[in-house]
Amino acid sequence: MNFIGVDLGTSSVKIVIMNDEGQVVCSIAKDYDVSYPKVGLAEQDPEDWWNATRDGIKELVKTSNISGETVKGIGFSGQMHGLVILDKKGNVLRPAILWCDQRTQEECDYLNNEIGQDKISQYTGNKALTGFTAPKLLWVKKHEEEIFNNIAHVLLPKDYIRYKLTGVFATDVSDASGMLMLDVKERKWSKEMLEILDIKEEVLPEIYESWEVTGKLTKEAAEYTGLTEETVVVGGAGDQAAGAIGTEIVESGILSVALGTSGVVFASSDKYEVDELNRLHSFCHANGRWHQMGVMLSAASCLKWWVEEINKDLKVEGDAFDLLLEGASKSPVGSNGLVFLPYLMGERTPYSDPNAKGVFFGLNITTSREDMTRAVLEGVCFGLRDSLEILKSLNVPVEAIRVSGGGAKSPLWRQILADIFGVKVQVISSKEGPAYGAAILAAVGCGLYKSVDEACKSFINITDSINPISQNVTKYNKIYDVYNKLYPALKKSFDEISKLQ
Ligand code: XUL
Repeated sequence: MNFIGVDLGTSSVKIVIMNDEGQVVCSIAKDYDVSYPKVGLAEQDPEDWWNATRDGIKELVKTSNISGETVKGIGFSGQMHGLVILDKKGNVLRPAILWCDQRTQEECDYLNNEIGQDKISQYTGNKALTGFTAPKLLWVKKHEEEIFNNIAHVLLPKDYIRYKLTGVFATDVSDASGMLMLDVKERKWSKEMLEILDIKEEVLPEIYESWEVTGKLTKEAAEYTGLTEETVVVGGAGDQAAGAIGTEIVESGILSVALGTSGVVFASSDKYEVDELNRLHSFCHANGRWHQMGVMLSAASCLKWWVEEINKDLKVEGDAFDLLLEGASKSPVGSNGLVFLPYLMGERTPYSDPNAKGVFFGLNITTSREDMTRAVLEGVCFGLRDSLEILKSLNVPVEAIRVSGGGAKSPLWRQILADIFGVKVQVISSKEGPAYGAAILAAVGCGLYKSVDEACKSFINITDSINPISQNVTKYNKIYDVYNKLYPALKKSFDEISKLQ
């Protein structure tokens, strides 16, 4: 038996085939573009996701030499919160508005201030944030009324792919949590919230637990991909919950840290818990439990920007990332007095501020490119530490962290993370994070294991552990104090410069 995990990310779709012993047999990634029509806006064409995914599955099945009949199930992981809207014939009505898009501040102010954050939090476990799906719907209603009136289906990104593969409109509890329409405690749509938004429940997808079977492949999809009409598709999960499953973050004590396009600190919890200030997201987990997490909008994307945009003219033989990261390893701890604020797309946790901007602070005549690269790596980890500090203030136990996402491949970045968090970083056998988690969910849905936790325990092993270096921890603690004061000091200037753009 084999299982497919599809992680519909922001810059690419990653697909893995996993066997019934939990080993990844082969994997593939297919890239697509994000369009940034204006500062703070981020959109994608759902057809690009679909083309990349169906071609990716087809190629993977072909090159793996695995018979399509042995693939029993598909699980999804996906970039969360994106708004995909379809008309009654199933046609996409406008480009998807992504999780990192910041256009909905007015709508969030309406929900948090006029309806009231306490009410919204009571109904959904969260406050309105610009990235979430519900404020995007209000934005479409206000700015694109005709399109709004034609909405027959509201979907999340991965659920659009499910629809194309199976013809079914469904979602899972973890991803649905990020729509601000789910009663996270009860794991069902919130009637009160739908009333506030003036949305009928029938436009929303059916909700499933992440391992539950939602449908089977259509004849057309089976023929195109080389799979069969008997292949089932399970609920799947938002990328953070799927990543947590893929790194066995299923109980409290060990945190998951994602160094993907976004940066996330994630804690599983046995019961539904809400930070009363709503600084953290309170969502359903993919194993039947709940989780709390802090999300920064630009993590590995800061390094991508630094390498591919700012240093694009650098003449290198080989990989520019490798070269610049090697340079960063020669810069001292603390980047020679340079601090980077990673707010390239505004920020969510802890500031929820679309106007926040990236900053290099402390430039001096001796600053080198190497220092700047290192400062980018450190700045992202300081941003993540903000979420860690909130979790610690809520008495969440933190024994170790497990890191996933593109940035986790860099040993330098992993050491910086251990030093800035002051906690050991565990490396696990699988490097595929969310796609692997999605495949595990498919295996559970097909009956290979009785529970998600059981499957994780059986498949996932720790292969390495990186301890924090105590003199680095001491130095970083001091720099973190400086980092912490920069955003409050600059907040007003961020607002002013945003008005001039
Ligand atoms: C989670 C979040 C991001 C996106 C994209 O709340 O916004 O992690 O899912 O990765």
